[in-house]
Amino acid sequence: MRILIVEDSRINQFIARDTLIKYNIPCDIEFAMDGEAALEHIYTHTIDLVLLDIIMPKMTGLQVLEQLHQIKFVDPPKVIMLTTISDAKILKACFDLGAVDYIKRPFEEMDFVSRVNSTIRDIENENAMRQAKIMLESQNAKLLEVNETLKETQYHLVQKEKLVAIGELAAGIAHEINNPLAFVISNFTNIKQYVDRFKTFIDASMDLTNQHDDLSKFKEAMLIKWRELDMAFVFEDFPELIVDSQKGLDRVAKIVSSMRNFARLSDENYFEYVDINELLDEVLIVVNNEVKYIATVQKEFNPCPPVYCNKGQIEQVFVNLIINAAHAIKSNDEAHLSNIFDPFFTTKPVGQGTGLGLSISHNIVVDKHHGRISVDSKVGLGTCFTIEIPYRYEEINLEENT
Ligand SMILES: Nc1ncnc2c1ncn2[C@@H]1O[C@H](COP(=O)(O)OP(=O)(O)OP(=O)(O)O)[C@@H](O)[C@H]1O
Ligand SMILES: [Mg+2]
Repeated sequence: MRILIVEDSRINQFIARDTLIKYNIPCDIEFAMDGEAALEHIYTHTIDLVLLDIIMPKMTGLQVLEQLHQIKFVDPPKVIMLTTISDAKILKACFDLGAVDYIKRPFEEMDFVSRVNSTIRDIENENAMRQAKIMLESQNAKLLEVNETLKETQYHLVQKEKLVAIGELAAGIAHEINNPLAFVISNFTNIKQYVDRFKTFIDASMDLTNQHDDLSKFKEAMLIKWRELDMAFVFEDFPELIVDSQKGLDRVAKIVSSMRNFARLSDENYFEYVDINELLDEVLIVVNNEVKYIATVQKEFNPCPPVYCNKGQIEQVFVNLIINAAHAIKSNDEAHLSNIFDPFFTTKPVGQGTGLGLSISHNIVVDKHHGRISVDSKVGLGTCFTIEIPYRYEEINLEENT
């Protein structure tokens, strides 16, 4: 604590100093004989407390205060006025300019000491508060940084979990594509044979036209050829093969497009209006191979207004839930409801589950979409997951503002 005594009388300076020393007030004491010297000292040193005489040569204490008032100190010194006059007007002006207290002269020791002490306590409190504020600000900045890092880590975790899921689904998807592709290929072998037969039949009809002038003989020969090449069957089967192949190719296209949609690493901030029923259909295509040998999927879709969401993330949630259900049916899992949303909680053998599926789904529904996810499960009966998300953009905004 540095105290500057601004006082034109040496004797008064020493009285003030000796009193401070006598009462063990912990401080460095410095002096200035007049206002100008005081200002000079304050500008060039860090002073905590100024004991400022009002009546001095060159500059009055009030003028010194006026000067100090003009300057924007980061940490301005506290000023206690020393006064013999009891002019309330001057004192009021001093308080208006920032003085915190006054001490009457001649000093009464106890009055002097208690006022100085009380101001020192204020200064110390303010210093402590300032320190605490600096510390809080720095901790806050660190927390913000940690929060940013966490968010980023979480984002990568979500993407990584998705990549793992894609890896696991890939073999099944290939299988799914292989089936329709195999019958399209086989259909094409038949189609090619039929085209050959058409050609043979047309060539034969040309030859027969040249050979027979008699129309009834020509018709008879054509009929023999028609039966020989089984053209009735070809005409019947050919369009069916085309329709079948078309369906197979459509199915392949659908699987590829569903997989491509699911695999797209979504920008986590991109929200759009999504038809949830369509999304569920796509998800069912992606997971079909994981489910079809274990369970029959029963769809009971209701009309649903477009939901404002991040499509890729909501798909990820449904994929997780459906695959979990398939695994639970296959392995007769007992539900451990209290832990299932915890990260890394898994009942699967080591190396088979990361235990992140539900924790990430929870994060996507609750944190990213301001929704809810809950579970109800009865051993031996089944498990029901409920997901609720606000379907209107306005609702998300409203919640964010409250
Ligand atoms: N439908 C369900 N029925 C019963 N238990 C379930 C069901 N879904 C999840 N669980 C339980 O919750 C656990 C955690 O699921 P979560 O999806 O988070 O991880 P995981 O499926 O074990 O691994 P990962 O999804 O990373 O491959 C599962 O191991 C299982 O014990
Ligand atoms: Mg899972």
